[in-house]
Amino acid sequence: MTGTKVTADMIRAMKGRGEKIAVLTAYDFPMTRLLDEAGLPLILVGDSLGMVVLGYPDTTHVTMAEMEHHVRAAARAQPRALLVADLPYHSYDTVESALANARRLVAAGAEGVKAEGGSEIVEQVRGMVANGIPFLGHLGMLPQHVIEEGGYHVKGKNEPEHQRLLADADALVKAGAFAIVLELVTPPVAKELTQRLPVPTIGIGAGPDCDGQVLVTPDLLGMLPWFSLKHVKPRLNAAEQMRAVVKEWKQSVEALKR
Ligand code: KIV
Repeated sequence: MTGTKVTADMIRAMKGRGEKIAVLTAYDFPMTRLLDEAGLPLILVGDSLGMVVLGYPDTTHVTMAEMEHHVRAAARAQPRALLVADLPYHSYDTVESALANARRLVAAGAEGVKAEGGSEIVEQVRGMVANGIPFLGHLGMLPQHVIEEGGYHVKGKNEPEHQRLLADADALVKAGAFAIVLELVTPPVAKELTQRLPVPTIGIGAGPDCDGQVLVTPDLLGMLPWFSLKHVKPRLNAAEQMRAVVKEWKQSVEALKR
């Protein structure tokens, strides 16, 4: 990667050069700026913001207005990284709604969009790509389907799931996806997809063999001590450090003489 603005084509080309792709989420100006200064090629304004910023129980509650608000904040950092935003639940049910809502996210500052699903959304993907909007796929465990699926389950454990993942990934590539996130896909299936597809796979809880890895930044930084996840070991205990600093500052205020 050079100092030039990153495009979706540049992300796709990283696979050909065997360069691994490190992706994190950001939901506001300072985090986008910090991640960009660390040199990430792609930053995702994920709808995980519903859980890690807005306090919803899952991502199905996130609205277009909330996504636009956070995309605007992230875009004000003017990152060199490609800034991709999630289309929230039910915002891409039809070709028309997908295109209209993707255009709203682009107007807010996104340079590409991501949506969850495979064969069932290929017409929507074609419509967005034909209108010049770079599309990032998302297969495997789909958080927007957590209620109907009754939890967050690993995908690819049996042959029908394995075959469905292959077919969905092929369909997304054919429709024009520039890369595909694989969430909680079994590592052997993620490896097979990575070898099979001409576009990068970006894994989360999908083993080490994907072309890239993505994490929800507050999980990486240990900002959410109330939840623990199997696929991520925090590299910082930010929550503990924040509590300690705040306590210390509070005590220093209370110790001030009248
Ligand atoms: O919403 C999100 O942050 C995501 C990533 C976990 C890939 O979709």
